[in-house]
Amino acid sequence: VGGLATYDPGFVNTASCRSAVTFIDGDEGILEYRGYPIEQLAEHSTFLEVSYLLLNGELPTSDQLGQWTHDVTHHTFLHENIKGLMTGFRYDAHPMGMLMSSVSALSTFYPDASDIADPANRYLQTTRMIAKMPTIGAFAYRHSQGKPYVYPDNELSYCANFLSMLFKMSEPTYAADERLVKALEVLFILHADHEQNCSTNAVRSVGSSQVDPYSAVAAGIGALYGPLHGGANEAVLKMLRRIGSTDNIPGFIAGVKEGKEKLMGFGHRVYKNYDPRAKIIKKACDDVFEVTGINPLLEIALELEKIALEDEYFVSRKLYPNVDFYSGLIYEALQFPPEMFTVLFAIGRTPGWLAQWQELVVDKEQKIARPKQIYTGHRTRDFVPMGQR
Ligand code: SDX
Repeated sequence: VGGLATYDPGFVNTASCRSAVTFIDGDEGILEYRGYPIEQLAEHSTFLEVSYLLLNGELPTSDQLGQWTHDVTHHTFLHENIKGLMTGFRYDAHPMGMLMSSVSALSTFYPDASDIADPANRYLQTTRMIAKMPTIGAFAYRHSQGKPYVYPDNELSYCANFLSMLFKMSEPTYAADERLVKALEVLFILHADHEQNCSTNAVRSVGSSQVDPYSAVAAGIGALYGPLHGGANEAVLKMLRRIGSTDNIPGFIAGVKEGKEKLMGFGHRVYKNYDPRAKIIKKACDDVFEVTGINPLLEIALELEKIALEDEYFVSRKLYPNVDFYSGLIYEALQFPPEMFTVLFAIGRTPGWLAQWQELVVDKEQKIARPKQIYTGHRTRDFVPMGQR
């Protein structure tokens, strides 16, 4: 914020950092990770390959990917004391709260946690977090179901292992279907990074104090927990269920126009065009529903989108579906309970948070975060004795 001469209510939009990780053109609906279009990565890549790309800036060779996959696979286990911490949560604790607490607890388990200067140590820290997020997420889910935790199976791929830790010895039996594993790869790729969004901003701001990366990522999880950010996909399902039928859509839209509520899953700080991720997720719905059966709420979502995209209120405000509008329908079809949707978002976003944290830590010119303020309070005045107040 330059001379503070003019006050911009969105002053948080001022440039807070330089970054080479992700490029977004909100007007054109473009999203690129290290220059590669999200559409090509979603079609041709895997989540671990994209994680490597975000962290290292280039797509890996076959040997590099092999080593990276080996290292991540061999860090999926959690210390038993972290598992003990998790068993201490209330039976109905929200999985995002459990995730945030457990990730910050990781900072107390590694003597080298605060050593962020050594590249080898940063590699170990980032590998551990990408490896352990699905394990913590799955343990939190099993905790909420009152079921025994399922340990990682290192013979499985990253996404297949996650589905195994979630659903082994329980419904749905189709969780191991390759089409669902591929759908989860795509969803994680689409969520992997998104420039300076609220949660990434939190990771960079907290990370700029040179704290360990586990604590910085825990701050990002806290930001993502909010309904206007990562919690939106859970809110979309609740909204669709409350609408209940396509007949009720006009009344719902009228309420939104009166300011009674927001159309969750619509609108974006940056995209003033269709979120490219929403287009890909909408297509992934068809693949998943082939296996699971069509989510009955899909009909309401499609009709709601059609009506909104033809309505002046939304068109004039450039409100289009964002990444959260359809993702919840897939997660629900995969039998995830709504409170797990944002955990899935967090697992996907972890490589992006870490790539942005790493970029900040190695950039000697990046200083500790200290946003400017516009002071709007009283200026100097004398103390008033009690009898005169
Ligand atoms: C994510 O930043 C990222 O990159 C985030 C994310 C990521 O990958 O990290 O993309 C993930 O957070 C996606 C967004 C998920 N949230 C939701 O779907 C919640 C619903 N969306 C809104 O709350 C809202 O659109 C935001 C928070 C996403 C953006 O809010 P802004 O920037 O304040 O919206 P805006 O300034 O562009 O709004 C302009 C107008 C306002 O109306 P007026 O004051 O001009 O009358 O549009 C209205 C807003 O009230 N508006 C909406 C609306 N979103 C904005 N009206 C109804 N429904 C909506 N969803």
